[in-house]
Amino acid sequence: MILIIYAHPYPQHSRANKRLLERAKALGGVEIRSLYQLYPDFNIDISAEQDALLRADLIVWQHPMQWYSVPPLLKLWIDKVLSHGWAWGHGGTALRDKPLLWAVTTGGGEEHFTLGSHPGFDVLAQPLQATALYCGLRWLPPFVVHSAFVCDDETLQAQARRYGQRLAEWREADNG
Ligand SMILES: Cc1cc2nc3c(=O)[nH]c(=O)nc-3n(C[C@H](O)[C@H](O)[C@H](O)COP(=O)(O)O)c2cc1C
Repeated sequence: MILIIYAHPYPQHSRANKRLLERAKALGGVEIRSLYQLYPDFNIDISAEQDALLRADLIVWQHPMQWYSVPPLLKLWIDKVLSHGWAWGHGGTALRDKPLLWAVTTGGGEEHFTLGSHPGFDVLAQPLQATALYCGLRWLPPFVVHSAFVCDDETLQAQARRYGQRLAEWREADNG
C-alpha cells in the first residue's frame, strides 16, 4: 500500500496537489490521509496515524512548500506521530527500512532553487531527510513540481502523469 500523508491547509483551493492526488488515487492501492481535513483542530489521532504507517509499503509526504518548509500541521504530525520508543530510540523500530518519498510543490520556478541566490533542494531537504534517516526510513529522491502557482492546466496534468509514473515505477521496482 502506498500511504500519502497529505498536508494542504486549503485543499479545496489547490490546483497542483489536487491533480497529483487524483493521479495517485487512480493507481489503486493508495491510501490518502488529508491531515487538514482529518484534523481541522490540529488534534492528531496518533494511534490511527501510526496504524496507517504500519500498513504502508511506501510513505509519501505530499504538500505545498510554505516558507521553504512544511505546513504547520505536517510538522506537528512529525512531532507527535514519530514518537520515542515507536519510531526512534529504545525499541523504536516501527518504520525501519520503509521507503519515504517527499512530494512537494513550489511556487518558485526551478531557477529560484538552482541559481544560488537561495538554498537549493539539496539544502532544503535536509531537515526532512535527517528526520527520515533518524527513524530508519529510506529516503528516496524527492518528487518536485516547480512553478505550481503559474503552471497552466496542461503542464499540471503532465506533472500529475509524471507523479503517477513515479509511484508506479516504485511499485514495480520495490514490490515486484
Ligand atoms: C503561506 C505560504 C507560503 C509559501 N511559501 C513558499 C516558499 O517558501 N517557496 C515557494 O516556492 N512557494 C511558496 N508558496 C507557494 C506554494 O508552494 C504554491 O502556491 C503551492 O505549491 C501550489 O500548490 P497548490 O496548487 O496545490 O496549492 C507559499 C504559499 C503560501 C500560501
